[in-house]
Amino acid sequence: MKRLEIRDLYKNYQAYGDKEVTICGWLRSVRDYKNLAFLTINDGAFKSVQVVVESEKNKNYDDVVHQNVGASYLIMGKVILTPTAQQPFEINASHVEVLGTSDPSYPLQKKGHTVEFLRTIPTIRPRGNLFNAVFRIRSVAAFAIHKYFNERNFVYVHTPIITGSDCEGAGEMFQVTTLPLESLPKADGKVDYSQDFFGKKVSLTVSGQLHEETLTHAFGKTYTFGPTFRAENSNTSRHAAEFWMMEPEICFCDLDELMDNEEEMVKYCIGYVMSECKDELEFLNKFVDKELLSRLQNIVGSEFVRLDYTDAIDLLLKAKKKFEYPVKWGVDLQSEHERYLTEEVFKKPVFLKNYPKDIKAFYMRQNDDGKTVAAVDLLVPGIGELIGGSQREERLDKLTQRIHELGLKEEDYSWYLDTRRYGTNKHSGYGLGFERFVMYLTGISNIRDVELFPRTVGSIQG
Ligand code: 4AD
Ligand code: MG
Repeated sequence: MKRLEIRDLYKNYQAYGDKEVTICGWLRSVRDYKNLAFLTINDGAFKSVQVVVESEKNKNYDDVVHQNVGASYLIMGKVILTPTAQQPFEINASHVEVLGTSDPSYPLQKKGHTVEFLRTIPTIRPRGNLFNAVFRIRSVAAFAIHKYFNERNFVYVHTPIITGSDCEGAGEMFQVTTLPLESLPKADGKVDYSQDFFGKKVSLTVSGQLHEETLTHAFGKTYTFGPTFRAENSNTSRHAAEFWMMEPEICFCDLDELMDNEEEMVKYCIGYVMSECKDELEFLNKFVDKELLSRLQNIVGSEFVRLDYTDAIDLLLKAKKKFEYPVKWGVDLQSEHERYLTEEVFKKPVFLKNYPKDIKAFYMRQNDDGKTVAAVDLLVPGIGELIGGSQREERLDKLTQRIHELGLKEEDYSWYLDTRRYGTNKHSGYGLGFERFVMYLTGISNIRDVELFPRTVGSIQG
């Protein structure tokens, strides 16, 4: 038996007209008219196939058409082209076999479940149209990222997940330990980490950037793409405790060139997904976000705004809108401010750059004004911050001084500082929150619905 995938059948269905094929898949719905039944079979392709089962040709008719939704099948039959019907072809079955029955409790009996309900059935929710569209797009977007960087000579690196340094210095790390939590070994009243697995205190990484930079200084252009972890107590629709980040790092590259790369990469990946996932995007445009397609099209064709933090503060201070969190120079922007700028003022993606140094990480390049750093966040409508990046502080003395100012331990970063000791250079990089990108590409408004098993504060399943 050679199984034909329904996706391949749709791509080239005319060539299969009147030919015998074998498909496998799961039952989505059944209409039984006693001696004639229509089964809708889905095998993971976005579009399902209609299978016509006639009692005359199928001696096990009663058994195979009286199955519960979710049952799995093997079907052999002839492809019949149906140019006047809604679907361009159907399969007239000559052999139908039930491979696995489905319990009547199968929760996806009908369409139109809420995303909140779907979250309660994590094993089954990927089998509906919504998650089929979202997770295909997630996969295609990841591929687009690899394709984009691969075509531009970047080297893909897998940075460690367990780390002894806090990249963002925000102290939002999940600790990793094999010490017995009920009876911690102590020395001088403090936990004795010399007895821990690694002989020191370690955590799950919040970003692969620092480790990655070592490879960037060997290859010139790298990117890392993997899971990151943040014990951030933010119960919002855009924060997860475990999420994927894609981080390119480029030597001999300043902030303007970095923004050029971000803009080109985002447009490239959107364009790629739009050409590869037409059915999925049309579905999402119809049922999730009516402006999705026009918004994506707009982005590909428009130039992103580049705005200084200081000018953004002026705009926010002049705004007629009342904000929950008041604005003044020096504050970190809240999502209401970011959304006001991208959704109301500019109505397109905005690069916000040159932030106050006190609200940004230690590795960012200090500007000559002594107050700001060469940071850049990309803010997009509907999401807020999609990308965070910066030009890096390449001057060893300035970087070391900043580590001290922020109370970080120089010895924890000595390996990192070596990149500045040997052949330092102007370099830059950024981190794209991959789930937020998938939200942007699908119109899905909650990060919990673009992750398979979301991990958020106070909630974990599976
Ligand atoms: O702005 P962040 O914190 O930047 C960094 O970690 C840098 N080291 C990246 C770099 O320059 N190589 O995080 C980058 C992006 C954010 O813009 C956001 O999209 C996403 O990661 N992000 C989250 N996504 C989901 N849940 C969270 N809790 C997130 N925190 C950050
Ligand atoms: Mg950030």
